[in-house]
Amino acid sequence: MADCTIRIKRNGSAMVTGSFEVLDVDGNPFAIEGEAYICRCGQSQTKPFCDGAHKTCGFESAPTVEA
Ligand code: FES
Repeated sequence: MADCTIRIKRNGSAMVTGSFEVLDVDGNPFAIEGEAYICRCGQSQTKPFCDGAHKTCGFESAPTVEA
């Protein structure tokens, strides 16, 4: 089992759980406990984190594993 799991949310963020760090452009860690939601739509005002903007900007993305 992986220490860290990234789950792509339908038409939304990427949910990260487990043991991980998110570092800024200078390598400084954001204060995160337990889970993080990373923006995939590009519209968040709190990048790299999701602020819910995907719900109103029309973002559509639901990638699946191809067999
Ligand atoms: S994915 Fe939620 S604001 Fe971008």
